[in-house]
Amino acid sequence: MQWRNRPDVTRWLLRTTVSADDLRERLMGEPDPRDHSFVVLLGEERVAMGYLEVRDGMGQDGGREPVGAEALLGWNISPGHWRRGIGTAICAELLAIAFGELRVRRVEAGCFADNVGSWKVMEKCGMRREQHGIEDSWHAELGWVDGFTYAMLRREWEDQRAR
Ligand SMILES: CC(C)(COP(=O)(O)OP(=O)(O)OC[C@H]1O[C@@H](n2cnc3c(N)ncnc32)[C@H](O)[C@@H]1OP(=O)(O)O)[C@@H](O)C(=O)NCCC(=O)NCCS
Repeated sequence: MQWRNRPDVTRWLLRTTVSADDLRERLMGEPDPRDHSFVVLLGEERVAMGYLEVRDGMGQDGGREPVGAEALLGWNISPGHWRRGIGTAICAELLAIAFGELRVRRVEAGCFADNVGSWKVMEKCGMRREQHGIEDSWHAELGWVDGFTYAMLRREWEDQRAR
């Protein structure tokens, strides 16, 4: 997975460098019950990663409902495999895991506004742009730039599947 730290891959990532040890630990270390990330294999080649972290929703103290109610999603694809539908397929699979298996009630994912490929992937999977943050995101080369937050509810995903 040496492609993970290539500049064309990290251009729009928040975490620009991940050490091989960190990656190994995340994928093969002690399982974290909130981390449902996966690697995508094409034959024997590791061509992509999907990230899914279960987290608590926002809510007043005392209620149990927000505990584990949400998931945060993400994806990275090896540059040799861009624009072949892998990003869209990963996003669809992450939604299926989050809503179908883990039964969270809402998912969210964020991206820099200029990362067109990433927000197109989300829109193709039926996620909704809920926030356009004006200059809310720091980019090492570009300075303060716009960011988007996308989201979807389980009932929307179920409605979409029923159509
Ligand atoms: C962004 C990324 C996930 C897109 O993945 P992908 O597998 O190329 O996406 P898909 O092939 O499923 O394409 C989905 C749509 O986005 C479009 N698209 C993909 N990359 C694009 C780009 N750089 N600019 C404009 N449109 C793009 C595709 O043409 C397609 O649209 P269409 O169906 O209207 O033709 C991939 O380029 C990537 O991993 N980049 C580096 C890491 C990264 O930025 N991760 C996301 C962080 S938020």
